[in-house]
Amino acid sequence: MVEKSKQIGSATKAIHAGEESLPKTGPLAPPIHQNSTFRFATAEECVSAFTDEDTGYVYTRWGNPTQSVLERKIAVLEGGEAALATASGMAAVSTALLTILEHGDHVVAMDSLYSASHNFLDKELQRLGIETTFVDATHVNHIERAIQPNTKAIYIESPANPTLKLVDIAACAEVAKAHNITSIIDNTFATPCGQQPIALGIDVVLHSMTKYLSGNGTVIAGIIVGSAEFVGESKKRVLRNFGGVISPFNAWLTLHGVATLPLRLERHSANAYQIAVFLEARQEIEWVRYPGLPSHPQHDLAKRQMDAFGGMIAFELKGGVKAGERLVNRIEICSLAVSLGDVRTLICHPASTTHSQVSPEVRRHVGITDGLVRLSVGLEDAEDIIADLDQALSRASC
Ligand SMILES: Cc1ncc(COP(=O)(O)O)c(C=O)c1O
Repeated sequence: MVEKSKQIGSATKAIHAGEESLPKTGPLAPPIHQNSTFRFATAEECVSAFTDEDTGYVYTRWGNPTQSVLERKIAVLEGGEAALATASGMAAVSTALLTILEHGDHVVAMDSLYSASHNFLDKELQRLGIETTFVDATHVNHIERAIQPNTKAIYIESPANPTLKLVDIAACAEVAKAHNITSIIDNTFATPCGQQPIALGIDVVLHSMTKYLSGNGTVIAGIIVGSAEFVGESKKRVLRNFGGVISPFNAWLTLHGVATLPLRLERHSANAYQIAVFLEARQEIEWVRYPGLPSHPQHDLAKRQMDAFGGMIAFELKGGVKAGERLVNRIEICSLAVSLGDVRTLICHPASTTHSQVSPEVRRHVGITDGLVRLSVGLEDAEDIIADLDQALSRASC
């Protein structure tokens, strides 16, 4: 019922989807199957589970009932046919790309990406004889111009980490379809409640579930959503052999996090908007990037393709790196930490932390300036986050 109905809202889906398969009597919340292997009554049952996975679970590297409930839930939330949970967001990135690519293939990727995704595309794929062309994907014609006869994948992030640049997702999907290329988007910043890339024509959506989907800063996990055929290939040909599978415990924690995602995203977005407006009015700040602000260069696109603008803000302090150091040393409620999508407000300086592995030239080229500060707005009272930033900014400028 929840899986099939298009009328049912995302809050109901986040709580009920995927749980139809659980027994009607027994535990209400999905239980954890914290086990590596499964027992069979007969040789025939065992053989049948090996040949047709719908008949049962064999071994947790191949799949686990707790993981399956989570995968169904996210597939329904993203509007995809199937999903495959992974050990981390990076396992989702590498598994999705390795499902498509072979030696001699080519990828067109956005130039502004999470640093490890950039490195994987730039360095690790190159070791396998796969070339990537990085383009400014804020103009979709740059993507189209970079396509070669051997291009097999287009890879984007929107909003991008940490620049908050957007890609016109529907236009990008159209280009990919016209050239028979698989389109992949990292939807970590927006979440399925903030943006629905599959409805906009994208083939494969992936997430670091470490972030908003689990939401409590307790899990490292990822997920790939797409057609049943793509997800089946990713699972049987890549993930099972490379081994980056999610643990039942992380699947279980994430499952319970996802149930409150729609509610949390509403609050993350409302808080972030208030804080972005506050930051934009401060004299210590050069500029603020938030998709929900009219000053965002792609605000019209954000309004067109996003249902919620999310909890991520980037801003540039006038005093550069030194002012950034003073700011993060003075915060009291916000935490100086990498990662994002947590209930707590997190602040970090990408040039010296999350994006330090990206070369200074690439950072400058894509707009990760030395003074850029990334704020992952949490679920505290907005007034308290603002008061904390107010006192830290005032003291940081002294
Ligand atoms: C946008 C984005 N994608 C992927 C990843 C990788 O996720 P994980 O750390 O779960 O491997 C991150 C991590 O910060 C991220 O921000």
